[in-house]
Amino acid sequence: MQGVTVVDHPLVRHKLTRMRDKQTSTKTFRALMRETATLLCYEVTRHLPTHTVEIETPVAPTKAEEISGKKLVFAPILRAGLGMAEGMLDLVPSARVAHIGLFRDPESLEAVEYYYKTPEDIADRLVIVVDPMLATGHTAVAALTLLKRSGVTDLRFVCLVASVQGVETLRAAHPDVLIWTAAVDAELNDHGYIVPGLGDAGDRTFGTR
Ligand code: URA
Repeated sequence: MQGVTVVDHPLVRHKLTRMRDKQTSTKTFRALMRETATLLCYEVTRHLPTHTVEIETPVAPTKAEEISGKKLVFAPILRAGLGMAEGMLDLVPSARVAHIGLFRDPESLEAVEYYYKTPEDIADRLVIVVDPMLATGHTAVAALTLLKRSGVTDLRFVCLVASVQGVETLRAAHPDVLIWTAAVDAELNDHGYIVPGLGDAGDRTFGTR
């Protein structure tokens, strides 16, 4: 699929299988969410630009690479995105965090905003939006639209499981935004859940059901 990177590293596939299994406990699910997000973060940041700096090792002066530009921003969509943001911050601890509160209206499945707080200079930064499940795509589209309204031009989207429909909806609304995911599942059910998916990622992360 155009614009989508499926991260199919064996560790990612293994951890995702354990997350899909309904027997997996809340404690293990939460840990796997964090670990998988770290691995996805490694891939989404793979081509960040770098520049050369001069440093001195204990042995000799040398030239070495540093990441260029301002600190990047992780933008978890509340609440399920929080579990992923933890894992991404494990790898990039100096990143900034923007919180985007959106819930899905159970009838219309449309996204409704209830919280939005970002770094003031977010427009100058690369923003990586994180939400474990790209299902209908409505929430992701709404989050990206809010960020673009704040002036953000450099956006990427990371999820654990995407549906074909979610990918198509996101790419149609925001063709400039590339997607990284551990898997693309074929279907959605009548409640907008991904099939086979892994259930409600928020409930399984926080043990609320
Ligand atoms: N949100 C979830 O947590 N799971 C899905 O399958 C779809 C949306």
